[in-house]
Amino acid sequence: MKKFLAIVLALVMVLSFTACGADKKEAAQETSGVKTVQAGKLIMGTSAAFPPYEFISDEDGETVVGIDAEIAELIATELGLELQIEDMEFSSIISAVQSGKIDVGLAGMTVTEERLKNVNFSTSYAQGVQVVIVPEGSTKVTSLDDLPNVMIGVQESTTGHIYCEGDFGADHLIAYANSTLCVQALKNGDVDCVVIDNQPALAHVSKNEGLKILDSAYTVEDYAAAFSKDNTELLDAFNKVLEEKIADGSIQKILDKYISAN
Ligand code: ARG
Repeated sequence: MKKFLAIVLALVMVLSFTACGADKKEAAQETSGVKTVQAGKLIMGTSAAFPPYEFISDEDGETVVGIDAEIAELIATELGLELQIEDMEFSSIISAVQSGKIDVGLAGMTVTEERLKNVNFSTSYAQGVQVVIVPEGSTKVTSLDDLPNVMIGVQESTTGHIYCEGDFGADHLIAYANSTLCVQALKNGDVDCVVIDNQPALAHVSKNEGLKILDSAYTVEDYAAAFSKDNTELLDAFNKVLEEKIADGSIQKILDKYISAN
């Protein structure tokens, strides 16, 4: 009887194993014990007009480079996964995570209560500050107090967009797909200022003459990586490596490589 049971059990195990293998979707996974969208890969979604966190390399005009790409590479390697980066609109990243098109959204993304309803966030790896870019010598915008009375350029679906809409109303905003377009609009005079994260602000101001950043900041925020609520194993594995890399200074090293202390 015992022998018979053992055989039945073995059979059931073999059958369920092959059944799993037959299903392609189910099969796409499991390296170092974590499930990912495609076996052996960590697919990261980002929006690469956000220097120095993510931008297109000048060298080949197509590779996504920057802080987030390097952090993802470091963690993917530790997890035994090959990093693949998908460049998309910032506003699509959360839904791409939710629908299982990508494994992780890594895009200088601020943790917010609203986003936490749709995705899980990793441990935070950096801080961001929303600042205001104005034309040098602007008389219209000299401090945050002027924001209610002017036209503000924001990056679509970002915290700058969301908070400005709450504070000043949609009529005072023009949302652009990315930070480069925001800055372009400011230079064209389509908007009076741009509310945007401090590091891309610095990058744009140093590349474009005649712009400056107001001294006072609008908000301070935490950046983290976004994961599907359905894959907490991947989140945990990512966090474990991330926290080790924060503790041993590797993450700071990457930040310092792109952000000069000044
Ligand atoms: N920190 C802001 C947010 O989460 C802006 C992020 C924009 N990131 C990007 N890669 N374009 O809303």
